[in-house]
Amino acid sequence: MEFFEVINKRRSIRKFKPDPIPKEDILKILDAANWAPSALNLQPWEFLVVTGNKKNMLGSNYGKIVDHYTKDWDAAPDKAFMPRQEFIQFANIYGGAPAVIIVLVEAHKDPKYQKAFIESASAAMENMLLAATALGLGGCWMTGPLDDEQYLREVLSVPDDREIVAISPLGYPMLIPDARPRLDPDLTRKVRWLE
Ligand SMILES: Cc1cc2nc3c(=O)[nH]c(=O)nc-3n(C[C@H](O)[C@H](O)[C@H](O)COP(=O)(O)O)c2cc1C
Repeated sequence: MEFFEVINKRRSIRKFKPDPIPKEDILKILDAANWAPSALNLQPWEFLVVTGNKKNMLGSNYGKIVDHYTKDWDAAPDKAFMPRQEFIQFANIYGGAPAVIIVLVEAHKDPKYQKAFIESASAAMENMLLAATALGLGGCWMTGPLDDEQYLREVLSVPDDREIVAISPLGYPMLIPDARPRLDPDLTRKVRWLE
């Protein structure tokens, strides 16, 4: 797939086929993530590939988070970026994805470093999602599951010297949603040219 086609085709996927992903493709995607730029070239990221029962446990926990988070959505439909029940169904099983990827970074006491580490890991995260798209796979950048970070830390044995940055299911899309419209497609308000 051509580079700009990959950029335009990437969508947040929330419904997956159950087909397993070849290990070499997972490694290819994580290799793309590992090639991201990073502050001071510290490459502070790590990746957890979660499948099986641990993945199911994470899903049940995220389902409860989404149920709680969306409880006023029926009364306030403008808040709902997707139907509430659909969102809960997705969360409970991570959309049926065969794997879930967790991106970690080294924790740093200095907020300046901490910010740079999170930014570096975010670059890795986007590389990962684009590489997945290029291989016909899909994911969804998620920070919602971090609402119960303590649970994630326990189930995944994440030590205190690591931050959890984001989570993404990974799998073959069953449903590819329409592109979300850009707020300023012509870039007339988002770009300023200065001389
Ligand atoms: C930092 C960040 C956090 C996000 N957290 C969640 C989340 O917790 N759950 C979820 O379903 N989607 C989450 N998303 C995905 C956004 O909802 C999605 O990117 C947005 O609606 C645009 O859709 P698109 O990715 O298909 O272009 C997150 C995206 C980003 C960048």
